[in-house]
Amino acid sequence: MNHFVFYDTVIIGAGASGLFCAARIAENGGQVCVLDNGKKIGRKILMSGGGFCNFTNLDVTPQHYLSHNPHFVKSALARFNQWDFIALVAQYGIAYHEKEQGQLFCDRSAEDIVAMLAAECEKYAVNIHLRQQIERVERADDNSQGRFILYANGQAIRCRNLVIATGGLSMPGLGATPFGYQIAQQFGLNVFAPRAGLVPFTWRETDKFYTALSGISLPVEITAACGKSFANSLLFTHRGLSGPAALQISNYWQSGESLHIDLLPSEDIAQYILNLRRTSPKLQLKTALSRLLPNKLVELWLAQGILQDEVIAQMSKVRLENLTNSVHHWHFQPNGTEGYRTAEVTLGGVDTDEISSKTMESKRVKGLYFIGEVLDVSGWLGGYNFQWAWSSAYACAQGI
Ligand code: FDA
Repeated sequence: MNHFVFYDTVIIGAGASGLFCAARIAENGGQVCVLDNGKKIGRKILMSGGGFCNFTNLDVTPQHYLSHNPHFVKSALARFNQWDFIALVAQYGIAYHEKEQGQLFCDRSAEDIVAMLAAECEKYAVNIHLRQQIERVERADDNSQGRFILYANGQAIRCRNLVIATGGLSMPGLGATPFGYQIAQQFGLNVFAPRAGLVPFTWRETDKFYTALSGISLPVEITAACGKSFANSLLFTHRGLSGPAALQISNYWQSGESLHIDLLPSEDIAQYILNLRRTSPKLQLKTALSRLLPNKLVELWLAQGILQDEVIAQMSKVRLENLTNSVHHWHFQPNGTEGYRTAEVTLGGVDTDEISSKTMESKRVKGLYFIGEVLDVSGWLGGYNFQWAWSSAYACAQGI
């Protein structure tokens, strides 16, 4: 006697990629069930974009993603792109706006995106089961009744296709678990060591005097040791450096490396002082700098002896060089990052060489699929991670 439930497809994870994939499979006529460990669907979506969900970007290219195989994303991004998702959002009458650099946010709330995904799942009769503890996954001996058996909340569930959409490790409070990596390893797939991405940096003990600048934000150009650079705003916090510039570069930073920061990329500070010398030679350096940089930063430099206040006409060549270094060449050595507690994504994950870029199916294990952030694909800040969730989910649904 067989006591089990059967579905064509089981998706583990009712987040961005899992919900979207479920709706697309069901729309194509597939019978699909989604299992999640949480009390609610789409918990990360609700938190995203400060509660307004930056659901995609007007400019999405493979260059906006990090992966050991940079070509992997191309096919999925081409087959379901930002315009396809924008069309769906528009179809649901969700009002949205561009904030900056092509980033699209909901006008009202991230809840609109979750409600849209829920409505899509309902429309095509997707079964969603919440508060599921998945104890183990096994391969079925007899494929006639599915290729996999899952044991969840004490019940056996058989399926032909198993889609892993459990995301990364960031924000454990929102249900993140290493389940997806463990399943990949159980089935013999390589997993690149995960680490926190899009994450703020922390101060070393010797830099803690910068906490005096907490709350100050300024436009900078920040460069990692690998040469990758971002021009965006930097935020001083009590713990370290945050803001879009810090989050973006964190994806390219390796532990132990320092970052190069130009605190005034729009000006050549030495030239500015030389020009001022002609018009206002008696001006104090402090006054001159405060016209371009936050007052508190200038005061901190003076208080720490990083710069000396003086009449600009008297500044020596060495002092000008010192000023240039302080303003344009800050070599910031992070102590580390804030880690998964505040990270927006997880770098690393299931090796994409193990996965078909057309269908997201494992090349080794028929019927086993990985989508979204659990894969070794991470996007920049700006809606790219959600776009990957939608695009990879769509590719998978077409492949099933
Ligand atoms: P996602 O994390 O969405 O879903 C995974 C699901 O699997 C969860 O529901 C989880 O509970 C479930 N799960 C995990 N382990 C399980 C287990 N063992 N058993 C059962 N279920 C399990 N991106 C972007 O493009 N724009 C933005 O504005 C933001 N903003 C943002 C803010 C914050 C605070 C965070 C943490 C992240 C973002 N992101 C973002 C990133 C974005 O949220 C993320 O890349 C996607 O949600 C990934 O979608 P997935 O479907 O892969 O995982």
